[in-house]
Amino acid sequence: TASNFVNIVEVGPRDGLQNEKGTIPVDVKVELINRLSRAGLKTIEAGSFVSPKWVPQMAGTAEVLSGIQQREGNHYPVLVPNQKGLDNLLSLPRLTDEIAIFTAATDAFTKANLNTTTAESLVRLRPVTEQAIKNGLRVRGYVSVVIACPYSGKTDYGKVREVAKELLNMGCYEVSLGDTVGMGTPDEVAEMIEEVKKSVPVEKLAVPASSEHEIFVQFHDTYGTAIANVIAALSQGIRTIDSSVGGLGGCPYSPGATGNVATEDVLYALQGSQYHVVGSHGSSGGVNLDEVVDIGWWISEKLGRESVSRAGRAIRAK
Ligand code: HMG
Repeated sequence: TASNFVNIVEVGPRDGLQNEKGTIPVDVKVELINRLSRAGLKTIEAGSFVSPKWVPQMAGTAEVLSGIQQREGNHYPVLVPNQKGLDNLLSLPRLTDEIAIFTAATDAFTKANLNTTTAESLVRLRPVTEQAIKNGLRVRGYVSVVIACPYSGKTDYGKVREVAKELLNMGCYEVSLGDTVGMGTPDEVAEMIEEVKKSVPVEKLAVPASSEHEIFVQFHDTYGTAIANVIAALSQGIRTIDSSVGGLGGCPYSPGATGNVATEDVLYALQGSQYHVVGSHGSSGGVNLDEVVDIGWWISEKLGRESVSRAGRAIRAK
């Protein structure tokens, strides 16, 4: 049976901020990550080693990583799209113990995001993954557009299964299935996970917090289904959820998609439930909802707006 510990991977500082137009100073990103780790989050995606021409906001990730207080046992993964990104990371003094590679379930999305096909991206990512592992880095894998693609419509879940399997085969220790567009409904999510389970053994899905391989999920809230989809995924045995403080985010190559499910909303929804939220893999400490609400408001105000987290708004209004 599945453990009832639910891991949260906080993606706000990367997925949440990458789409912002205005420049966000390094010290704000550093403070954001430090505050999130003080609130109990243990895996916090810190930035990307991607082309600054493609995603200008993530330039300066090395400064962010060297500026934060890295807590023992915490992980601060960074996105790496290709060999050049890994070379850049490895040319610096060791800044992190984890990278995340990414591709998508459709060629059209991979073309927009990585300028190549899905098959070719997998060919290119294999040596990157192998070299990262040789250098002592853990590697997470992302599959985008697992339910629908902004360019080619409804996704073939068989393709999601194949790509997830290949990412695990090349050495990723876990694979995140992203509803990048945020269009999924709970039934679709359950159906998609059922399909992926055909190739990823169930024990690798319904894992206790310390287990090695697993798949997990990332939902965007464009149609308001993100929390319902989290619950559907938990019912399917998934135990790791990507979320973003303040509901920040949106992918530059997924026009119209809103941010990730808000970390605050996940914490609130699971309070008092059969599930116990932990900061991340293997940790026993919980995450402080009130602190995350404050951080969600703080960073949203830095970006010139209000927090879009529903729980964050309701708790602030009390
Ligand atoms: P390309 O144009 O085909 O690459 O882009 P290229 O090899 O021809 O290089 C073009 C220029 O970029 C060259 O510079 C390279 O040196 C440079 P120039 O000679 O013109 O001066 N370059 C780099 N610079 C820094 N770091 C690098 C790097 N690579 C090349 N790593 C490329 C291909 C992969 C570079 C590009 O498509 C790219 O950077 N893509 C990243 C896009 C991205 O970050 N998207 C958002 C993240 S994914 C996401 O949000 C989804 C996810 O959250 C899950 C979900 O929600 O679904 C993960």
